[in-house]
Amino acid sequence: MKKFLLAAGAATVLAGCAAGGMFGPAPKDGELAMPNAYKTWPVFLAGIEKPTGHVRDIYINTKGTEAKNGEAFPNGTQFVMEIYKATKADGGKMVKGDLDQVFVMYKGSGWGSTAPEGMKTGDWVYSAFDPAGQPKKVDYGTCRGCHIPLAKDDYVFHYAKYFEKRASVDGPSYAQMLESHAGMVAMTTQDVKQASQVLK
Ligand code: HEC
Repeated sequence: MKKFLLAAGAATVLAGCAAGGMFGPAPKDGELAMPNAYKTWPVFLAGIEKPTGHVRDIYINTKGTEAKNGEAFPNGTQFVMEIYKATKADGGKMVKGDLDQVFVMYKGSGWGSTAPEGMKTGDWVYSAFDPAGQPKKVDYGTCRGCHIPLAKDDYVFHYAKYFEKRASVDGPSYAQMLESHAGMVAMTTQDVKQASQVLK
């Protein structure tokens, strides 16, 4: 009997891990932390000009770069999208102004279960921040509403563009990029502190 209880206990712990992963309980929309060192991450796509007068730069964490074309991004993948105010210069090109807001998308095992029924986008969870990194009060249904039709691309808008860009970078230099990045991931706490100081 004692043996059975132990086994049941272990199963409960495992079930807890499945929902929360190694990051604690599954976060809901609006509960993600702002990843301070995201500027050291690989660039997903940059300089996306929007007719609304904005320019967007998107970063992906190293975990996300493990995805291969045709696959979903692995659990632990995180995107950070900076949205800058921008004005049109004479040549028609947009010139970045101030940072307006920062959107984050993060997936973990079972996290999607916290989303309302009919609004689930796999295991992705969303958060929005102001330029100072403070969480914004927004209706997260709007994030899901726009991203939900993209199921075949793991709910990521520029999925195809990203893998095209990756394929156009020749193998060795992409590998080198990842390798040099691996060094950054192994930064000391002191380095991370300094990096976040610079970002502030
Ligand atoms: C009006 C539709 C719309 C809404 C609402 C919306 N998004 Fe997106 N999102 C997009 C588009 C389009 C892109 C691709 C970048 C671009 O071309 O602007 C994108 C890209 C992203 C990306 C980069 C990864 C990717 O899919 O390419 C993140 C992160 C993101 N959105 C988070 C959010 C969050 C967080 C919210 C809510 C606060 C939100 N989005 C609301 C349309 C939307």
